[in-house]
Amino acid sequence: KGKSKIYWVCSSCGHSDGQWWGTCRACNSVGTIKQFSEGENGGGKTSGFEVSENVARSWLSQRSTDAVPLRLTDVNRGINQLDWRIPLAGLLGTEVARVLGGGLVPGSLVLFGGDPGVGKSTLLLQIAAMIAEGRDFGQPAPVVYVSGEESIEQIGNRADRMSIGTEELYLYSSTDIEDILEKVQLLSPRAIIVDSIQTVYLRGVTGSAGGLLQVKECTSALLRFAKETNIPVLLIGHVTKSGDIAGPRVLEHIVDTVLYMEGEKYSSHRLLRSLKNRFGTTDELGVFEMSQSGLQAVSNPSEMFLSEEHLDAEFLAGLAVAAIMDGSRTFLIEIQALCVAGSSISRQVNGVRANRADMIISVLTKQAGLKLQENGIFLNVVSGVTLTETAGDLAIAAAICSSFLEFPIPNSMAFIGEIGLGGELRMVPRMEKRIITVAKMGYKKCVIPKSAEKSLSALDLGEMKILGCKNLKEMINSVF
Ligand code: TYD
Ligand code: MG
Repeated sequence: KGKSKIYWVCSSCGHSDGQWWGTCRACNSVGTIKQFSEGENGGGKTSGFEVSENVARSWLSQRSTDAVPLRLTDVNRGINQLDWRIPLAGLLGTEVARVLGGGLVPGSLVLFGGDPGVGKSTLLLQIAAMIAEGRDFGQPAPVVYVSGEESIEQIGNRADRMSIGTEELYLYSSTDIEDILEKVQLLSPRAIIVDSIQTVYLRGVTGSAGGLLQVKECTSALLRFAKETNIPVLLIGHVTKSGDIAGPRVLEHIVDTVLYMEGEKYSSHRLLRSLKNRFGTTDELGVFEMSQSGLQAVSNPSEMFLSEEHLDAEFLAGLAVAAIMDGSRTFLIEIQALCVAGSSISRQVNGVRANRADMIISVLTKQAGLKLQENGIFLNVVSGVTLTETAGDLAIAAAICSSFLEFPIPNSMAFIGEIGLGGELRMVPRMEKRIITVAKMGYKKCVIPKSAEKSLSALDLGEMKILGCKNLKEMINSVF
């Protein structure tokens, strides 16, 4: 028996190397290189990688001999599968479909990532039931929910709690990929769900379930299955602490679409974002609420970040509302400011970028003549969102003015605009969309940069008045 060969694999990108390096030479990650040795998998003769490739190939024939290159003009564009998507019915469905780029593409492999407990299994069980029912788009058809995490009784109980009783929904508990795909294929399902990538394994591949090679090979096998059968595969993946989906980046490269589910611990809202999508844009956002009976689409998400005090009280000092965009959606968020004269703490911000807040405070002091120097200033964005857009500048400034002057802003007023170093107000992208949302939400007045006023004059804003201001001084004079 010869000397066993040793090699190093990056746990971030899967790059393998004959010698150890401090950083991965493929993806530059630090400290991700792990040692593997030949025969680690029960004394096999070849390296882990070679074994795994062979096994992964063998279980679903590649049929490479059948396929030949086709002339472009002979390819029937009419059956281009990208044109046809499985629609997802109902409120929850349209929300998910939008994030997917218009529905589920047959033969696609979609990864749903997120922290443990965020609600991935819940969402996928609901999606599975929805696809199986086939409401609005034809007959019911089988959908298989495969779980390696829970027993079918546990999933059944959860389905009961969510009042899911779909005839065509099949549950299967297994962790062996070959077994799963063989059984699943017998049903010719409309879609399959695999919960989760960390629990499944491929026989003959090095390492335990959830390990780098297993994750990589299982995902590749699922992708081949999806492409060959045209059955879409929805795959769940837990996120590691570092925030990478399922640890290895390779997973993200293999799949067609990566969706990411996030939520605050103490809030029932859940957001679904697309990080990668071979079939559509990645800037859509789905908004859900976790309830006793599963997830529900939030039909009017624009106001979900506003506090109840704000909606109730007509006037509150130190509060201002901004219209920010996330994906194609407009959200109204509430900014709270507190100015305390002679405070020992000079500044504390939460939900606002600190350097942006510093700049706005400096501009207010220098260009608008507010004597903020001797004040401790606290800024907070309600309900844990982080404001990254400059469109919120004007609302931040207005909230600070309101607290400093002890002059409340009516809760029927909103602010949109960026602030320049000279105190001038600047336009931000997609003014129209923001303004229309603000008007729809029943606001009476919206303060915007003067330069944006003209282009918005043709809009039908109902009762809402637009107040165009050139600079901060003008804004202060007209609002306070
Ligand atoms: P789950 O889907 O199991 O999360 P994941 O698969 O991402 O780990 O959901 C976990 C949480 O959701 C759990 O703490 C209970 C809660 N939940 C509800 O609030 N309502 C429900 O109807 C269900 C099924 C779960
Ligand atoms: Mg789960």
